[in-house]
Amino acid sequence: MKVHGEHYRSIRQRGDAVEIIDQTRLPHAFEIKRLQTLEEAATAIRDMWVRGAPLIGATAAWGLWLALRDDPSDARLEQALETLLATRPTAVNLRWALQRAETALSPLPPAERAEAAAALAQDICDEDVAQNEAIGEHGLVLIEDLAREKSGQTVHILTHCNAGWLATVDWGTALAPIYKAHDAGLDVHVWVDETRPRNQGAGLTAWELQAHGVPFDVIVDNAGGHLMQRGLVDLCLVGTDRTTANGDVCNKIGTYLKALAARDNGVPFHVCLPGPTIDWQLNDGMAIPIEQRSAEEVRYVHGRNQQGAIDRVDILPPGATARNDAFDVTPARLVSGLITERGRCRATRAGLLSLYPEQHDG
Ligand code: MRU
Repeated sequence: MKVHGEHYRSIRQRGDAVEIIDQTRLPHAFEIKRLQTLEEAATAIRDMWVRGAPLIGATAAWGLWLALRDDPSDARLEQALETLLATRPTAVNLRWALQRAETALSPLPPAERAEAAAALAQDICDEDVAQNEAIGEHGLVLIEDLAREKSGQTVHILTHCNAGWLATVDWGTALAPIYKAHDAGLDVHVWVDETRPRNQGAGLTAWELQAHGVPFDVIVDNAGGHLMQRGLVDLCLVGTDRTTANGDVCNKIGTYLKALAARDNGVPFHVCLPGPTIDWQLNDGMAIPIEQRSAEEVRYVHGRNQQGAIDRVDILPPGATARNDAFDVTPARLVSGLITERGRCRATRAGLLSLYPEQHDG
């Protein structure tokens, strides 16, 4: 997508480094960081300079290249895989990318590994872009149907967290159909959940939509149910960090409550995901590891202060404790449908297998 008129991907190789957008600085500053070592790549994922399931996987793949170009030995490969896998536990794209890399790289003679790792990371990035664009096309059909039902009146779409191009390599998952609809001239408007504690909706989704000219309003996390009751939401579109083989959807904390409200109000609730976000090894969302993050994220809110500097303020009483589960699980029964790069399906094992028949014996 474009930033100040220039086309960007959220990650790219430039010379001897991997360039990323430091997402902890957005929406207040657009800063590119250069990653040059495995350790920097691991920090970028762990400290959420990059985030979003597909981008975590892509960054890990580039992190292997950074590790292997200095030392392509078996020991270094093993240590790099372990280091990267430990950065964030919930997004299954991380494991997917690392397993794919291990399968491709470990049989190679060490001297060939670095070049192969770079090629693989580039493939993972290019595939991600193509998958997300296809998700956009399949999701567009849903928005076109709603626009037709509403005789061309504005289609209001609620989204949670940031499942846009910043969370992927380009396009995004849940935002891809919205960009496609906007570009096709449909009248779409987005309700952006602010998404406490880290405010990926307020900071990242709002920034992306604004840059692309898509109309939106940021709402507090608790407003969605109320807006649905008033008939002000036509569709919920969210992303996911891990969807199990039976269609249970793990996504940013708060997604489950939106799905409950959507079901109570007859609002369709669709989840957009590329194939690498499906965990074929799990049949129950309750088995997904939920990342526990620091209570500091609940305590401090980040923003720009009146002097123009990026600052944080403490919103809790001194000594107050806090708990910070980063994700929740929406059971498949609350999901109206899944939108993948291969098309749409029901959130069931049979639905997913109809699109990914090669997983039948998986
Ligand atoms: O903690 P984050 O910001 O990495 O969480 C991101 C999300 O929850 C996204 O919705 C998910 O990764 C889907 S991204 C296309």
